[in-house]
Amino acid sequence: MDVHGLTPDKRLDLGDMPGGSELFLLLKNTLQRLEQNQILEVISTNPHIKEALQSWCRLHRYAFLMALDGGDHYRYLIRNKPAASMERPDWGIKLPLRKDGRLDIRDWFQGRAGDVLEQAPAYVGFVPRGAVPEPGVPDFGFGINRKDEVWAHNLLDLYEQAKENQWNATTDIAWEEPPPLPDDLEWAVCQTMTFLAENEYSALYIPAKFIAQINPHYIEAVMYLSTLIQDESRHIEAFTKRALANGEGFNILRL
Ligand SMILES: [Fe+2]
Repeated sequence: MDVHGLTPDKRLDLGDMPGGSELFLLLKNTLQRLEQNQILEVISTNPHIKEALQSWCRLHRYAFLMALDGGDHYRYLIRNKPAASMERPDWGIKLPLRKDGRLDIRDWFQGRAGDVLEQAPAYVGFVPRGAVPEPGVPDFGFGINRKDEVWAHNLLDLYEQAKENQWNATTDIAWEEPPPLPDDLEWAVCQTMTFLAENEYSALYIPAKFIAQINPHYIEAVMYLSTLIQDESRHIEAFTKRALANGEGFNILRL
């Protein structure tokens, strides 16, 4: 199991058991049944055992990885492995440059950051992929944790293309020359702009809901989705401006 592998292999629910010999006997029996490097998740409603667990792990050479505050309970991750052999960060990484000194996202999969797992780690929060997480990283409860749920072979191409193709709804439309229209036609255009704006709202809000669900291990998917959301923002901006630019405004929205 590598640095990202913080998904527990076994769970031990201690209830509100106090820190003492009974607790440590249970803990030791459970850890001894794990393979080397496997992770035990200890669940407890007792808020006072964290320090005792840390001390016990140090003494017995288990790696106390982190404590997670679940509100009405606590979870502690312990690795069945000596603490002295915790992961080390990368050193000596240098990204290759493309023509004209371009630094492309397609080239940033180097070292530990390039290790994109099929199953994302569950307990590293916003720790960038490849970084060594410290104990105590909060659990954000991401719901999309598998590569096959968010990844595509051309994801990185799409992201780079999305940045290249951006336009500006303030400067790229000739707003100083709105075409004069008969009143009934302007009314119809504004009716259409009202309907389109509504659709763009949903086009922005619906993908935005997914961002908070995607495990940051797949940050490239989040970054690409953010370009779509910026696109929809621009569409809202353009349709709203057109509705307001020529003497009318948003019209009745017929559902
Ligand atoms: Fe759109």
